[in-house]
Amino acid sequence: MKIAPSVLAAPMTALQEILKKLDPEIVDYLHLDVMDGHFVPQISFGEAICKEIAAHTKIPLDVHLMVSNPGVEVPKYFTLGDVKPEYITFHYETTDFPIRLAQTIREAKIKPGLAINPVTPVEELENLYPYFDMFLIMSIEPGFYGQSFLPNALERLQKFNDLRKVLSKKYNHFAELQVDGGVTDKNIEALKEAGVNISVAGSFVFKAENPNERVQALK
Ligand code: DX5
Ligand code: ZN
Repeated sequence: MKIAPSVLAAPMTALQEILKKLDPEIVDYLHLDVMDGHFVPQISFGEAICKEIAAHTKIPLDVHLMVSNPGVEVPKYFTLGDVKPEYITFHYETTDFPIRLAQTIREAKIKPGLAINPVTPVEELENLYPYFDMFLIMSIEPGFYGQSFLPNALERLQKFNDLRKVLSKKYNHFAELQVDGGVTDKNIEALKEAGVNISVAGSFVFKAENPNERVQALK
């Protein structure tokens, strides 16, 4: 199980200090939540802050775009200073052309991810499976950190994991399963059993004295 702390839950004004503290030997990815105030109610930060973050860490970046116009926004994240993010994830609910956008991300030598909200059926992902390297099943409605894990999320993750077993054989392609929202030391074992490969954690990691210890606790 890999852990991707979400810096949205860290105090923005202290980010430089916090980034210095995060140990690249322990923290697998840094999850960057970009919110536009349209697809989700809140505006968080955009490519300028992501560039600054990229300059202050060696941890691979996992960009989660919660924006209503991903076709326009995605290319802004292809290079963040001199680094490329490991993943760029956009939402299924935001575009009619997810395959084309995934191909554009792959052409930029970045792994494309596709996120779905808690009410989007996981079966919708079937035709999209070979085009993405990661699928993010939201376990909260996107927009804010600190919300509780939704009760239907575990079943949805299991359902996708079952579907993935069939599709990875069919397409000879393996995509990671990521979960985001309300992850704690109480549900991490069940998430592992449901087939999750990468867990995003915001408050659990950053509303604590030592973020590295919290990541280790989840692992
Ligand atoms: C919510 C974000 C999440 C959030 C997770 O829209 O996509 O990444 O920061 O925070 P916690 O772990 O506190 O739910
Ligand atoms: Zn996120």
